[in-house]
Amino acid sequence: MEEKAIIVIQDLLKRYKNTAKNALDSLNLKVKQGDIYGLLGPNGAGKTSTISMLCGLLPPDSGEIIINGTNLRSKPDKVKAMIGVVPQEIALFEDLTAKENLMFFGRMHGLKKDEINRRGNDLLEKFSLTEKSNKRVKTFSGGMKRRLNLMVGIIHGPEILFLDEPSVGIDVQSKNVIIEYLKEINRSGTTIIYTSHLMEEAEKFCTEISIIDFGREITKGKPSELLENNKDCENLEDVFLKLTGRNVRE
Ligand SMILES: Nc1ncnc2c1ncn2[C@@H]1O[C@H](COP(=O)(O)OP(=O)(O)O)[C@@H](O)[C@H]1O
Ligand SMILES: [Mg+2]
Repeated sequence: MEEKAIIVIQDLLKRYKNTAKNALDSLNLKVKQGDIYGLLGPNGAGKTSTISMLCGLLPPDSGEIIINGTNLRSKPDKVKAMIGVVPQEIALFEDLTAKENLMFFGRMHGLKKDEINRRGNDLLEKFSLTEKSNKRVKTFSGGMKRRLNLMVGIIHGPEILFLDEPSVGIDVQSKNVIIEYLKEINRSGTTIIYTSHLMEEAEKFCTEISIIDFGREITKGKPSELLENNKDCENLEDVFLKLTGRNVRE
């Protein structure tokens, strides 16, 4: 029996204004419930554009996105209630404290104050920010901001989580805490779609992978399948370089 696809992307096309080529050029993807799905590709491949469209922030020129059986175009609010997003750029209020940020984002997702406090305190503890919870974000280090950025994206316990390069520009410890936490919520049922250009991390972390370039799929499969299909490669990074080339990108 085929496992249930929780996300289906069909022929997604996007060209930004005043640009000469498609950022997404008929992209197709299927994510199964419970996957940790890695959307991998070099800079400029179209990862952020895909995530932005998946969470309804950017309208596609054409193509369809179906999440949990619901078309994003026709019922955006229904879809938005099921998802959480951790953007590539830190999106926090610098003049608010960690707790105030959690309260703001929790409220935005329709949670009650008590629930936000309870979940927020658990997350603060988990991500070692309890002592900093009443400090303003602008006093935080990069790693602390990354952790809080993740926390506000999952405060409502979404069943589908999108993360855009969550482990770029952070210390090894913060990265480890984030990855371990993501594995934990995946075990309890959260489907994760994550973008990265860090192949070593993706090889260990992802259950399924798509490598995309120039807005198109280059290959996909489980990490073990990609290695099996590219016997001349020692690891996923070799596969990536073989398929996307060695010239430097954006
Ligand atoms: N707002 C924008 N305006 C014009 N071009 C854009 C914009 N955002 C992204 N692009 C272009 O679209 C392509 C895909 O970008 P992006 O989705 O950010 O890739 P990635 O996240 O994989 O690095 C790139 O060629 C990029 O320059
Ligand atoms: Mg990006």
